[in-house]
Amino acid sequence: MGTAAIGRPEYINIRQGNKPPFTIESFRASGLEMLDEAYHQGIRYFDTAPGYGMAEQLLLDWITERAYSDVEVATKWGYTYVANFDPQATVHEVKEHSLKKLNAQWAQSQKLRPSLSTYQIHSATFESGILQNTAALNRLGELKQEFGLRIGITTTGANQEEVLKTAMNIAYEKELLFDVYQVTYNVLDQSLAEVVQQLNSQNKRVVIKEAMANGRVFSNANFPHYENLYHLMPQLAEKYSVGIDAIAIRFCLDSIHPFMVLSGASQKHHMIANLQASNFQLTLEELDQLRNLSVSPSSYWQERQTLGWN
Ligand SMILES: NC(=O)c1ccc[n+]([C@@H]2O[C@H](COP(=O)([O-])OP(=O)(O)OC[C@H]3O[C@@H](n4cnc5c(N)ncnc54)[C@H](OP(=O)(O)O)[C@@H]3O)[C@@H](O)[C@H]2O)c1
Repeated sequence: MGTAAIGRPEYINIRQGNKPPFTIESFRASGLEMLDEAYHQGIRYFDTAPGYGMAEQLLLDWITERAYSDVEVATKWGYTYVANFDPQATVHEVKEHSLKKLNAQWAQSQKLRPSLSTYQIHSATFESGILQNTAALNRLGELKQEFGLRIGITTTGANQEEVLKTAMNIAYEKELLFDVYQVTYNVLDQSLAEVVQQLNSQNKRVVIKEAMANGRVFSNANFPHYENLYHLMPQLAEKYSVGIDAIAIRFCLDSIHPFMVLSGASQKHHMIANLQASNFQLTLEELDQLRNLSVSPSSYWQERQTLGWN
């Protein structure tokens, strides 16, 4: 379960329909209910970040309260949430990939131990300088050794593949630094299929985010260029008696065999629907049909930039 949508009221997607009125108390309460429901449904892997508003603290409070010993947490460092839960905010998060920010956020995030298994750089890019920041990379290597953490990287954007290939060669004391790669992959952007194979063969964990392409996999009159996708997805959903969401997740599972696909659901019925992806498998022919529906990474990410926080 990804916790971005239960940590802050605004998120990049193309949500259709009305939102309930926002108060911090009710938002927090429904976030805790989502965590309980996730556990009840069998989810044991939770992805969070300080950049997701109250999500990391909510998860910490929940784990402490429930004292579950079988829950695994992955968090990140590098973004600070600055919107103060204001739905009208124009700036939601500020990125800083410095050693100072790493140390400051680690001081808080380490409270998630011993459930914390994975510590990731949030949205590594060439521009953020993190891939050349030896001091910060060495510090991650130290944390890996001292606390037995898996160190991860998350990527976003049209050049994810180049960023990943650079990260895959970064070492700390003669051992590869990164063990977990959280990446965007879905039926529209399949550009990482090959590099994921490489990562799988090196026994690295690949975690998929944005399996729903920020909501673009659901039929939407504003995206007429996805007509073929909007024709095929409902047919498959009907065949397997599941929602479009489960087909989108199943496509990720069957086409590249990742360690995990994150569900970003913010409502219980969506989470339960997402989990239906565990109950069937796509045929090779169906996989081929879906493979044919990808678009170029540049048009995928250009379009994503036009999606609002809502
Ligand atoms: N590292 C990064 O930079 C990064 C970036 C993005 C995400 N993530 C991680 O990945 C997690 C997952 O986020 P995501 O964006 O990838 O989420 P996602 O699950 O791929 O997509 C969520 C979108 O799908 C919709 N949806 C889900 N199930 C649905 C259903 N059954 N029916 C209709 N609509 C449905 C949601 O609607 P509603 O809005 O109505 O819920 C939302 O618009 C995040 O929580 C976070 O942990 C990380």
